[in-house]
Parts: sequence; C-alpha cells; structure tokens
Amino acid sequence: MSSFNINPINLMHTLTMALDLAVDGVSMHQQRTAVICRYLAEEIGIGAAEQQSLLGAALMHDIGAAPYYEERRLLLDPSRGCDEEFVFRHAEEGYRLLLNLGCLSHAAEAVRYHHDHWTGGNPSGLSGTNIPLASRIIHVADRAEILLRKHCLDPDRCGPVCADLLKETPVSLEPSLVDALMACSKRECFWLDMTNNTYIAGFHNKMDWGHTPFTARDLLDVAGLYSIIIDRTSRFTATHSRSVSRVAALLADAYGFSKHEVYQVRVAGLLHDLGKLSVPNSILEKPGKLEADETRVMRQHTYYTYRILEQIEQMENVACWAAYHHETLDGSGYPFHIRGDQLPLGSRIMAVADIFVALSENRPYRKAMDADEAEKILRGMVRADKISGRVTGMIMDLRDKATDIVRDSDIQMLEAFGAAS
Ligand SMILES: [Fe+2]
Ligand SMILES: [Fe+2]
Ligand SMILES: [Fe+2]
Repeated sequence: MSSFNINPINLMHTLTMALDLAVDGVSMHQQRTAVICRYLAEEIGIGAAEQQSLLGAALMHDIGAAPYYEERRLLLDPSRGCDEEFVFRHAEEGYRLLLNLGCLSHAAEAVRYHHDHWTGGNPSGLSGTNIPLASRIIHVADRAEILLRKHCLDPDRCGPVCADLLKETPVSLEPSLVDALMACSKRECFWLDMTNNTYIAGFHNKMDWGHTPFTARDLLDVAGLYSIIIDRTSRFTATHSRSVSRVAALLADAYGFSKHEVYQVRVAGLLHDLGKLSVPNSILEKPGKLEADETRVMRQHTYYTYRILEQIEQMENVACWAAYHHETLDGSGYPFHIRGDQLPLGSRIMAVADIFVALSENRPYRKAMDADEAEKILRGMVRADKISGRVTGMIMDLRDKATDIVRDSDIQMLEAFGAAS
C-alpha cells in the first residue's frame, strides 16, 4: 500500500465527470470552465504553482451543488437561472466539503467565493481584490462557459457572448478579467478548444503539474468525500455508501483477500453508486414503484460508475467490483449483463453487501428489516440464481457484525447532524 501513488489532477479530472452527469449525458461544465481558467491564467500571467491550484479548484468548483440535481441544472441554465440563496449555499457547501480534506483543502477557499460579486453585497462581506484571485477567475470562466453553451459554442456568436458578459461586468465580474477573456476569444484556438471535447477531456494530460502524488490514504479520503455527496442525494441513503464499503470489506477480509485488495474493496464500496449523480432526486426519492422510463434512468447509474472509475490508474479491480453490483449470476442484471463465472468475487461480495445494507435501512416505502427478514430475501435471490450462495452464507455467519456496521453508521450520522445543529 505504501508504494501506491496516483496523479491528483488525473483523479480529480476523472471524478469531476460525476459532478457533471445528467439524464441526458455529461455536460463537461467544470472541465470546460477549467480550460477557460487556464486561458485566463496565461493571459494575465500567473505562476505555474498558482495555476495548478486554480485548475484543481476550477475542476471541483460546483462540488457543493452535486447532490441537488435540479438546482445543479438551474445553475447551468442561463435562460432560467438559479435562486441567489442556492448560488451562495452551494459555494459554501463546497468549501465545507473540501476544507477538512487534507489533500484537497487547498481548493476550499477558491470554491467558497466563486460567485462573490466584484462590487460586494456578498454574504462573505468581501468585494473587489479582497475576493481571492482564483475565485474571481473561476467566476468569470464559469459565466463564460454557461454563455458559450447558450450560444451553442459557435465562434460566429462571439459577439453575443461578449455582450452578455459585459452586461454582468459592472456588478458581478471583475472588468479586467472580462477584458482578458475578450482577448482570448479573439484567437481561433480558443473556440476550437471549446468545441473539441477530446481536448477538453484530456487537456490536463500533457501538463506537468508537479504535484505530490496522492497516497492510498488520500484516495480513500477523496472516495469518502464523494460517498458523502452520493449519499446526500437522498435522505434515505444518508450513510449507505459508507455502510456498503465497511460490510463489503468485512466480507472480503473473511474471504482472505490481501490487505491491498480489502483496501480496494473499501474504495469500491464508497464509490459503487457514483453514477447516481446522473439520476434526478425526484426518482431517487420516489416513494412508489418507478415507471419504465424512470427505471431506465435509474439503471444508468452503474454504467457511469464503471465508465468513470475505469479511468483511474492502478484501480483496475475497483471499477468492476464497484460497478457490477446490479449484475446477476443468471445474466439478467444491468448494465453489462455479465453472468456466472464472469462476475468477479469482489463484485459478488459488493452485490450482497449492497442488498444487505439496503434491506437494513429505512426506505420511503418500507421500514428497515431485521437480519432474519433480510436473510429470507437474500436466500430467495440465491435460489433464483441472482446472487452468490457462498457470499450470502458468509454474511449470515457475520450478521451481527454487519448489522452493527449499519447501525453504527446511522448513529454517527445522527451525532454529526446533532453537532451541526
Ligand atoms: Fe457555482
Ligand atoms: Fe459552475
Ligand atoms: Fe446501485
């Protein structure tokens, strides 16, 4: 585990995709915002070290909005817009998420003020150059990205984009940064980059970021951060990912997985529902049965979990173990319809851990089940050739410990809310 290292910017760039997921695909808002920030940084001539932390913050700037699907959509919709309370709230929530995460805390401040108006009147009390430079740059880049998409990323519509930006300049945006953006927009490469999704998706690859590599501990912390975001998408799953992670690790350990593999199972458990950020909260929280089109949307979550996690270096197993948790032994699961022996043991473990934890939690349409009721359902699924009989036997042998994990997570969450209120 000590030899483990990972490029932080690659990891953040990859996971950022999850923050831009929606029913109709990936918007790439944050990645494109980061590219615009890079143009601005070079135009005004800021140093390499400052650029690195600016781009890191730009890639995560809307992280506080991630659990709130509808509001997140409104933030990116220039024709409807979002209410000002949420605009400042998501910046503050992003700051709080990042602040205590050692390896990402450097981005917290820039995220906190990325909607502060240049002329003041902000909850922070800041104005002008008292607002951190990185926040001011992200603010301009964020607005530019939204307006560029409003005008269909069309270089011939450069005029309207600039006019819209200038309209916001007297109050909201720093005039000299808007001027810098105007200068960038006069270069053909700017528009070609904006419309080149391959470049946007890989712009960071050729850059020498000079960051200290992330350790295994850092990756676990980042996965923990994302698990909080995923679990905030519904009040019924406030601790789900953390519990699945711990129950799956308990099973993997009992199976004799190596220390490194148990570590990977923990990361996979924390991130198994990452793709749920593509599903509207109204579907995630629906009390009744889902309609066919809602089921289709719900089912896309493991597809995105896989497509995002498969891009993380040195984490080959994590993508499979995390994303195959709705695959079944008879091949009727989703989204890949992997069957029988093709389903790795780590994925079978994750599937059983996920079902056990879900049954042990309250849902909008039923109360939490005890271990006996959960066993009946799990055994039925074994008979139907959906999940592994061996893994189910193992979790039943460990039922007291597994039940304690789910209950402890609940208590920790209640304590955290109690302390916050
Ligand atoms: Fe924002
Ligand atoms: Fe944004
Ligand atoms: Fe799931």
